[in-house]
Amino acid sequence: MQTDASFADFSALCLSRVDKALDQQLPDTAIEPSRLHEAMRYATFNGGKRVRPILVYASGLACGGRPEQLDMAACAVELIHSYSLVHDDLPAMDDDDLRRGKPTCHRAYDEATAILVGDALQSLAFRLLTNGQQQLPAETSLRMVRLLATASGSRGMAGGQAMDIDAVNRELSLPELEIMHIHKTGALIRASVQLGALAGGGSEKQQQQLGHYAKAVGLAFQVQDDILDVISDTDTLGKTQGKDAAANKPTYPKLLGLDGAREKARELLDEALAALADFGPEADQLRHLARYVVQRAH
Ligand code: IPE
Ligand code: IPE
Ligand code: MG
Ligand code: MG
Ligand code: MG
Repeated sequence: MQTDASFADFSALCLSRVDKALDQQLPDTAIEPSRLHEAMRYATFNGGKRVRPILVYASGLACGGRPEQLDMAACAVELIHSYSLVHDDLPAMDDDDLRRGKPTCHRAYDEATAILVGDALQSLAFRLLTNGQQQLPAETSLRMVRLLATASGSRGMAGGQAMDIDAVNRELSLPELEIMHIHKTGALIRASVQLGALAGGGSEKQQQQLGHYAKAVGLAFQVQDDILDVISDTDTLGKTQGKDAAANKPTYPKLLGLDGAREKARELLDEALAALADFGPEADQLRHLARYVVQRAH
């Protein structure tokens, strides 16, 4: 995996690498309970962009790590992310029928299965961080488990989702909206970069700089998600366009207008790039990724 490859080549390599590892790690559908195992695969192999695994690889390689050390962390963040989407789409949350261009998990299966898919994907994520395949020092694995647990739990993604549900039909101030976005989406994106840096053997200073980069990219990611919900279409997104407005959710475009939200995304991109100032070309994929996050069309 070359950090001087084009972003398209690099991300395609990351994608095939993480998909192969996920295929190896997810239980076979022949194993009972086979319907649950089938639904776990349905929720994982359905055309996600794999932004979080790409961040793990790009960050780990920027710190001098080898791809083999990064595979389990890449799988773990994508499993947590896929679980979060399955639960996000449930009737009790966003009540969505379409995800990644296909029926949502609870539509294709049923609600109970979708809840269990989320539970099981989450457990598998933590199991992978401890499976020894990365040949990392036990202390590093322990730090990684702790980091992912914090990022996914009530002080991270799950907490952000609670704020999101609580904010329906309410006006949030800009700082409140920022806190919500940093938790519900930013925390896992930041964890992806930090896990890559940890597994890749980054120094404390590198971890800190990458942490700054990731905080800006994580927020920019949800700002762009909010923008796309307004300006894109259902076919391109693979999820129902206009859901935020329909559900009366506070978003960046709602608070700042479209131009204001775009300006915010640009500012965050500048912040992310500035945080990488001490890195050389080994961090170029992280730079490409930050640009992609605010320029993407879906
Ligand atoms: C969508 O995430 C949900 C958010 C956290 C904003 P992605 O845009 O990364 O979704 P996939 O994985 O590509 O489907
Ligand atoms: C989802 O945010 C965040 C998480 C799943 C943690 P959204 O509800 O905006 O995501 P989409 O738009 O449904 O993908
Ligand atoms: Mg949601
Ligand atoms: Mg949603
Ligand atoms: Mg959204």
